[in-house]
Amino acid sequence: METNVLEGKIALEEGKKLIKNGEVVAFPTETVYGLGADALNESAVSKIFVAKGRPNDNPLIVHIWNKSQIDQLAKNISSGARAVIDNFMPGPITIVLKKSDNVPPNVTAGLDTVGIRMPEHKVAREFIKICDTPIAAPSANTSTHISPTSSKHVYDDMKGRIPLIIEGGDSQVGIESTIVDLTTDIPTILRPGAITAEMLANVLGKVTNFTGEVVVAKAPGMKYKHYAPTCDMVVATNLDVALNEYDSQASKCRPVLICTAKWASQAGYRNVINVGDDEREVCRNIYGAMHTAQDEYEYIICQDFGNNGIMLSVMNRVNKASGGKKI
Ligand code: TXA
Ligand code: MG
Repeated sequence: METNVLEGKIALEEGKKLIKNGEVVAFPTETVYGLGADALNESAVSKIFVAKGRPNDNPLIVHIWNKSQIDQLAKNISSGARAVIDNFMPGPITIVLKKSDNVPPNVTAGLDTVGIRMPEHKVAREFIKICDTPIAAPSANTSTHISPTSSKHVYDDMKGRIPLIIEGGDSQVGIESTIVDLTTDIPTILRPGAITAEMLANVLGKVTNFTGEVVVAKAPGMKYKHYAPTCDMVVATNLDVALNEYDSQASKCRPVLICTAKWASQAGYRNVINVGDDEREVCRNIYGAMHTAQDEYEYIICQDFGNNGIMLSVMNRVNKASGGKKI
């Protein structure tokens, strides 16, 4: 078989055609190049094992471009798993979750769990998107060989065994993704990578590292998601910025402004949760406002209440809730 190396739109179109026909395609990611097939097509997936000479008992990772695909592939997703998804995806991480019935058994080598990864590489995401199906992919090397970080590495190792390599430059991370099993009581790192145990511990509280050692968040009370609402939240440092942000978000989702009476009076037609005038009122109302906001809206723009007296404490909570996002 002839192995083509193509770039750009032609590469994506040709790749899509091959995937739709149940063939394999090598594509770039920021970690290493992958060898992909339609993850929902069992016979296409079996071609990956043949092309790589990979033992059938070694499961594959399923690649997605959009977080909504996770619910198609996995079930029983814990709040810890959601926090990892929110904080590190897209990126160089693979999460292991309980698999759904949609995933053919040869993808997971018969396991009841599935590894899911959402690459950040632009070409990878465009490729997965255009294929309109999750893509099962191990690294694009023959079994036991070194993982490829350029199209040339893939070509040298796999020419004649696969029809297409999509060019995407050198992989910028350069080693395979961190794999974290989120089905265990304490999440477990199965393979170390660019997302470290410390980074995961700060979000999860605790993780078992691949060495077996348990890594605890440096300051558990400061876990990133500790005070966070379930929707995105930003802090606006002045009224103009807040109103502009509101208007630009309003076409995509339902935003709300959490602010003092003074800002509220200038917000016009916009949805507002007024937390009052004086600092005690703001303090008393802030958590209630966040609860209402997450229940009734999709995006929170919260006023920066400054750092005088009690406002310093209020802003400590607000900044945690927004993950430090300021506009
Ligand atoms: O960065 C990466 O992860 C690259 C790119 C292409 O995404 N992929 C990659 O795939 O390194 P691969 O197949 O070379 O390594 C995947 C590893 C294997 O060691 C496999 O055993 C493990 O992930 N794995 C996959 N699914 C698993 C599961 N459900 N439970 C435990 N381990 C799993
Ligand atoms: Mg590999």
